[in-house]
Amino acid sequence: MDLGLNQKVAIVSGASRGIGLAIAHGLAAEGCRLLVCARGADALDAAVTSLQAHGTEVHGMALDITEPDAGDRLAAKALDIYGGIDILVANAGGNRRGRFEDTTDQDWEDILELNLKAHLRTSRAMIPAMKKSDGGSIIFISSIFGREAGGAGLSIYNTTKSALISAAKIMAIELGGDGIRVNSVAPGSIRFEGGSWDRRCKEDPEGMAAFIADNIPLGRFGKAEEVADVVTFLSSPRASWVSGSCITVDGVQSHSLI
Ligand SMILES: NC(=O)c1ccc[n+]([C@@H]2O[C@H](COP(=O)([O-])OP(=O)(O)OC[C@H]3O[C@@H](n4cnc5c(N)ncnc54)[C@H](OP(=O)(O)O)[C@@H]3O)[C@@H](O)[C@H]2O)c1
Repeated sequence: MDLGLNQKVAIVSGASRGIGLAIAHGLAAEGCRLLVCARGADALDAAVTSLQAHGTEVHGMALDITEPDAGDRLAAKALDIYGGIDILVANAGGNRRGRFEDTTDQDWEDILELNLKAHLRTSRAMIPAMKKSDGGSIIFISSIFGREAGGAGLSIYNTTKSALISAAKIMAIELGGDGIRVNSVAPGSIRFEGGSWDRRCKEDPEGMAAFIADNIPLGRFGKAEEVADVVTFLSSPRASWVSGSCITVDGVQSHSLI
């Protein structure tokens, strides 16, 4: 299937490793021109070099997506280099575990900024250019724990990831007339070299084997590339009738019916 992504301009946040890097590879392999960002410049440079191997134009911008002007700076750079913006994949994110009664205002503020507010600001910054595109696409990387309860210790993460799905739906309603689709993707537990599940597997292989047996009917962790394939399709014009949706990529890990 030709996804029709050749020469489209895509911005991916948190693309120096893990799921974000795999998404950037998925888009680059389809011929997208990329602007990728993360805070750490060395890892980002390495990511850009690996992405350029697809033969498409790739630029990196080391920045903290929670800075108030980060979205504006990304949009300005993409317009400067490429003259337009078609796709935004808002992927950067993190977690701060803890029982709700022990969480602080600062904990909430930090993760609300990283997981939600930064992506709302960045999306707003892309909208004027996307209105001029012949089909804009915004994708938020949420989690299965934005669709259902993740359990004790996850109040902050659950709240921010649910909010992303909600925001995507309303944005999709409002922006549909401008030809901009907005969707979210909800990965389950994804293991990649150096990621949090990989660390836990190395620390506690038996415990993680039991976790898989109890929680993931397909019998293994997901791969970053399996999330990337879904995101790449959703980014593309071949997903032209998909907007306001949240797509789960989780090997049947989650239980939500909706
Ligand atoms: N892995 C999973 O099992 C899983 C499951 C469900 C959902 N998710 C979601 O998928 C997304 C990616 O997860 P991951 O596991 O690939 O994460 P990860 O390994 O922690 O990678 C996060 C990426 O985002 C960048 N980043 C972090 N904070 C940033 C900031 N303030 N500004 C700019 N870039 C920032 C990181 O680079 P720097 O540190 O250099 O900035 C890195 O490139 C997250 O939203 C996560 O919540 C992951």
